[in-house]
Amino acid sequence: MPKPVRKVVFPVAGLGTRFLPATKAIPKEMLPIVDRPLLQHAVEEARAAGIEDFVFVTGRSKRAIEDHFDADTELNRTLEERGKADALDVVRHSEIAPGRCFYTRQQVPLGLGHAVWCARAVIGDEPFAIVLPDDFVQADKPCLQQMVEAYEQVGGNVVAVVDVPREHTSRYGILDVEKDDGRLATVRGLVEKPKPAEAPSTLSVIGRYILQPEVFDHLEKQQLGAGNEIQLTDAMAKLIGTQPFHGLRFEGNRYDCGDKVGFIEATIAHALKRPDMADKVREMLHKYC
Ligand code: UTP
Repeated sequence: MPKPVRKVVFPVAGLGTRFLPATKAIPKEMLPIVDRPLLQHAVEEARAAGIEDFVFVTGRSKRAIEDHFDADTELNRTLEERGKADALDVVRHSEIAPGRCFYTRQQVPLGLGHAVWCARAVIGDEPFAIVLPDDFVQADKPCLQQMVEAYEQVGGNVVAVVDVPREHTSRYGILDVEKDDGRLATVRGLVEKPKPAEAPSTLSVIGRYILQPEVFDHLEKQQLGAGNEIQLTDAMAKLIGTQPFHGLRFEGNRYDCGDKVGFIEATIAHALKRPDMADKVREMLHKYC
């Protein structure tokens, strides 16, 4: 049995330029899908996968994130006094247990690889997960849980992947596949944002990773990659050949909430799954379409 995955890193220090001015004073990851911030959806997914420790790599506007996962004793007391039990339940559910959340800072957004490297001291020498909250995944069994189950079989590194149209390969990290059983692909290479004609496959890595701590040795070198940023893909690519590396086609739908239309689609998809509002939302959509 490989070492268990107990820690997750949420890189949330990006500038979120595509959502300005909404992201001027709050991080993009605090934008809500219906009534929960993207980041809370991500925390709940990690919890369902058995994660115990939550590491946030923050940048500007850190307070909104810290406050959100903290216990707000004054609010809790007021809700209790007013008999608002349901609201109190919802608020308490957003809290992370004492001593289980860690905040570290990426002062300058030098890229996703650099953000992950900023968590190295908290992760130490054990496998860990990374969840990008702006990749929202709707699935019966949470995506990270599916990945942990796959990891327990194959060990090493496991990334979540989806098939994308060939004309879109230049937006993603793409797998070079050695073997593929339709669910798990054995990876022999990774390319960041290849042109469609040069892409080794159409399997794209989404924002869910289980990685071994050796990735920090490569991130340490701080080499600039595509877009002049320190890319996580480049460091992961160096692990291939030295450790098992697999791509998992998870069951579920992924929405790119870093993009405005993707964000709206995720909101609608999530609302349509909620028993408390699905019928009303469907009716409302009929009116517009
Ligand atoms: P994006 O590529 O979506 O960048 O980052 P962004 O800055 O958040 O948004 P745009 O493109 O300017 O609109 C993907 C994830 O990686 C994190 C982001 O916070 C997001 O969760 N990230 C990215 C960092 O934490 N640090 C970085 O230097 C870059």
